Amino acid sequence: MATGGSILPKTLGDLDVAGKRVFLRVDFNVPMEDGKVTDDTRIRGALPTITALREKGARLVIGSHLGRPKGKGFEAAYSMEPAAAKLAELLDTEVVFAHEVVGDEVTELAKELPPGGIMVVENLRFHPGEKTNDPAFAKQLAALGEVYVDDAFGCMHRGDGSIAGVAELLPGGVGLLVQKEVESLGSLLTTDNRLERAPFAAILGGAKVSDKIGVIESLAKRVDHLFIGGAMAYTFLEAQGIPVGASRVEEDKLELALSLLEKCRNRNVKVHLPIDHVVADRFAEDAPAEVVTTIPDGKMGLDIGPETLAAWGGVLASCRTIFWNGPMGVFEWASFANGTRGVAEMLAASTGFTVVGGGDSAAALAKFGLQDRVSHVSTGGGASLELMEQGDLVGLQALRR
Ligand code: 3PG
Repeated sequence: MATGGSILPKTLGDLDVAGKRVFLRVDFNVPMEDGKVTDDTRIRGALPTITALREKGARLVIGSHLGRPKGKGFEAAYSMEPAAAKLAELLDTEVVFAHEVVGDEVTELAKELPPGGIMVVENLRFHPGEKTNDPAFAKQLAALGEVYVDDAFGCMHRGDGSIAGVAELLPGGVGLLVQKEVESLGSLLTTDNRLERAPFAAILGGAKVSDKIGVIESLAKRVDHLFIGGAMAYTFLEAQGIPVGASRVEEDKLELALSLLEKCRNRNVKVHLPIDHVVADRFAEDAPAEVVTTIPDGKMGLDIGPETLAAWGGVLASCRTIFWNGPMGVFEWASFANGTRGVAEMLAASTGFTVVGGGDSAAALAKFGLQDRVSHVSTGGGASLELMEQGDLVGLQALRR
């Protein structure tokens, strides 16, 4: 596997952290209910880095955001305290919680940490300087550590104070999670080894063409096959004059869809669109589902159909590299989940290198219990798409300076 080495900054092995205070940025942006963490996947994702740093005798000051608070101080619903408690439980160790984000008291608490000690600071986004990357805030964050480690892959497309700002001020690098993400996704980015990993297929789904324009343009330079499902497929079908009934179509993106198809043709990328559909007469979980090859007036496509899956399966079985991002239909509803489940099963059955972008496709994979059957599941929705699109992330650039 290629390593994506050219965009990878320093990693844990390159950093001298023994006895030092490390400001560790993680992505503990976890779902919460009634003040309790309901899914600790992201916290678990940071444990290898936390453990590796503690084993080297580092003293850890951990910062994260949670949700999108207003940036004007404390909001109880977005406090990091439950996440800090969950971390203490998972590590079975004491975790100090600082009720402020930065300031003299927090810095003093950080200085009192013993080697291997851990402190979690309050939600970074409570401070107005986080989202604006205010240099004064970045300086206060930098005062918490002597070394900076970024293991918050899901946030590395954000130029925030704790991502881009502090990276300019402290010696630093990426943690083990970010390293794995960059190596896995980065290996799909090169254009010079098309033969080595060919055929290379990308499967894109989701609601909006507009969300995927950049990634389609970028992937068109790299893949042999592009499969398009989900609601955005109907815009591509309508653009070619194929009946889509009452399916969701972005009327203002029809020309763009045609030009994207043209770009793919010019690059010899074979585009695969659905050839049959699971339709209903309304957007509702209990709406009766029907499989059709031509969508009649008044019906809307809510999933790709079985013939589409069979046709795609034949091509995907021969692919040595597959990247998947975005569901094929309304997978949260049983009647419209088969397309997404089928694609997930094809990735699981593939003997090639299979990568799933974060967000909904990762959630779907977990729902079908297949998350351990692919080569890599990204923890970052927006970040993984941006990396595939731009070939780099602002958080990586800041660390390579
Ligand atoms: C995510 O959940 O994708 C990351 O934590 C980034 O969150 P944001 O989109 O609010 O920046």
